Amino acid sequence: MLCLGAGGGQQAPVLAAAGYCVTLLDISDAQLALDREVCTRHALDVRIEQGTTTDLSRFDSSSFDLIVNPVSNPYISDVRQAWREAARVLAPGGRLIAGSINPLLYLFEENEGEDGKGLTVVHRLPYVESESLDEHDLALAVQGEMVFTWSHSLEDIIQGQIDAGLIIAGLYESKRTDTRAPSINRYAPTYIVTMAEKPGA
Ligand SMILES: C[S@@+](CC[C@H](N)C(=O)[O-])C[C@H]1O[C@@H](n2cnc3c(N)ncnc32)[C@H](O)[C@@H]1O
Repeated sequence: MLCLGAGGGQQAPVLAAAGYCVTLLDISDAQLALDREVCTRHALDVRIEQGTTTDLSRFDSSSFDLIVNPVSNPYISDVRQAWREAARVLAPGGRLIAGSINPLLYLFEENEGEDGKGLTVVHRLPYVESESLDEHDLALAVQGEMVFTWSHSLEDIIQGQIDAGLIIAGLYESKRTDTRAPSINRYAPTYIVTMAEKPGA
């Protein structure tokens, strides 16, 4: 299986410990260093690759039965390219489990409000953190040295997977409950998890 955009020492070691044969790809050396640390500590064997979700050309087509992609697509501008690449490297019958963010999160900035929970609509969708990304910025982003955030439309998140040749077999929503979560989470779930299957098994 492929843990995609999943560095940080969480998903890949846990799934390796559960018995999966895991390849991990993430853009950030710092995140991958955490996986190396956890895997060394627990004697887990994970193939670790540094790279971007939008270019999986190092992997053959149909080479994974399962892809787990925690929320990493807000950090790429072209989510549809990531879906196409994921669909290509999935074997027929394989599954892509992907976390995304509901674009409504990006509409608001927080304000004081009467109860300290106020939200003001500030941004239009799709949201781009910086309108003025030049090629140098994008190169740094690709190398994982700068982080920019893009919202993606529900159409790009969901129909984008369908257009990549996958069948959406499940969709789940959840709230962020940690204390750092933006207060919109008090009113609506902002995470989406999709499970998609590649037909043809
Ligand atoms: C929110 S973390 C998700 C994974 C983390 N294990 C977790 O559970 O929070 C987002 C991850 O996406 C990675 N990432 C950002 N842009 C990426 C890209 N273009 N290609 C691959 N990984 C990327 C980051 O380095 C980070 O490890």
